[in-house]
Amino acid sequence: MKRQTKKTPPARTNMWGGRFAAAADARLKRFNDSFSFDWRLLEEDITGSIAWAGALRRAGVLSQNEETRVARALRSILAETQGKPLPLDDHEDVHSFVESALASKVGPLAKKLHTGRSRNDQVATDLRLWLADAALEATSHVAALAQTLVALAKREAATPMPGYTHLKQAEPVTFGHWCLAYVEMLFRDADRLVAAFARGDECPLGSGALAGSPVQVDREAVAAALGFSRPTANSLDAVSDRDFAADYLYASTLMLTHLSRLAEDLIFFSSDEAGYVELPDAMSTGSSRMPQKKNPDVLELVRGHAARAIGETTGFLALLKGLPLAYDKDLQLDKEPLFRMRDTLSAALPALEALVAGLQLNRDRMRAAASSDLLLATAVADALAARGVAFREAHDIVGRRIAEAIAKKKTLKELGPGGGITAADLAALDPSRSVAAKKAIGGTAPARVRRAAAAAAKRADALARRVGKETRE
Ligand code: ARG
Repeated sequence: MKRQTKKTPPARTNMWGGRFAAAADARLKRFNDSFSFDWRLLEEDITGSIAWAGALRRAGVLSQNEETRVARALRSILAETQGKPLPLDDHEDVHSFVESALASKVGPLAKKLHTGRSRNDQVATDLRLWLADAALEATSHVAALAQTLVALAKREAATPMPGYTHLKQAEPVTFGHWCLAYVEMLFRDADRLVAAFARGDECPLGSGALAGSPVQVDREAVAAALGFSRPTANSLDAVSDRDFAADYLYASTLMLTHLSRLAEDLIFFSSDEAGYVELPDAMSTGSSRMPQKKNPDVLELVRGHAARAIGETTGFLALLKGLPLAYDKDLQLDKEPLFRMRDTLSAALPALEALVAGLQLNRDRMRAAASSDLLLATAVADALAARGVAFREAHDIVGRRIAEAIAKKKTLKELGPGGGITAADLAALDPSRSVAAKKAIGGTAPARVRRAAAAAAKRADALARRVGKETRE
């Protein structure tokens, strides 16, 4: 008798196998699967799925008992996978992993959970939940760095050092004033991160694949259950919008751009030539060859990461450009730049904060450098102007005297009064006097810096409190 070969359908190894005659090729899997990186959305995917189970129960798709079983199983999946290696090669993405883990706990009931839902609104929701945390985490790092810089500004409110334009010695400023310049940038960065958080504060779940959900779900309730302020307004937009993520990347990139300037300043301040600051040993690196070396690697890496971040943001915008509505698989590639940015920020900012907190100032060297004619010529011109000489003329008088001093290899002080400059004018050759004169709002006078630091301390503390509050909610 001839053996009957039963024609069995191929094994369904994924969520969409029904219409396919062949199982997925290994090469397709390798290229198409995203579980190797989107596992980072596991917690958000489970949270979203629990909320969806609630929505399905309220819509009459699941019974109370079924919702309870699904939610309990989902919670246990989360608990059981914490800190354990995941079977990254065995699943297409985090969504199919959660569904199959659920099936192994509740059997066929797991198949009901995807009613009226698509991975498109699911992943958009997961990503928004994840990004809210990432934006708040970045904001809390910014608040901490700002607090550290403010503390330094308070302590060094009256410490003069050279200020530069074109990297040429220009006028003395206080070290505290320099600190607060970066604090202002960080406050704007924090605003932008909070705005990215707010931009993502709408819930896509219930948008279906692109057209909306056929189930009469209460989207307001789903949004509220997940901590969002409201549901998204348009399903086509909701499954393809990644603006909130672009906002986060841009905010982070501009922040790193600011920090790259801070890094560059500190690299110069700590150079053997300037020697204004000494980096803490614990935040510096050595050379395998040159025993004397103490290198500013942390600062150089911050500068380097700013470059990379610009690439990430540019690449992300390029990914979105020209995408037809609604969801396209290109969007699967939205996640890695975001994951990388979060990892970068959460390593770079605490390192930078530790470095700034441990800076040792060489105040004598700063003051000596700030006492040069190069930095105080303007103060002498200001002294002439203060006794009625037109500033343009004062500028000319001092300029000619400087040229004379350079020719005679002397300082203005050594040259003494003459050429329209009095002994009283020369008293302006004092960095403390120069900085003290800059009393108007925004200036470098120690009294002004102290007030600015006190105001900045309040803002930084309020920012830290706000992040704490949002995180707890
Ligand atoms: N892994 C996918 C992503 O990250 C999930 C959404 C898949 N949707 C789809 N229609 N293939 O974007």
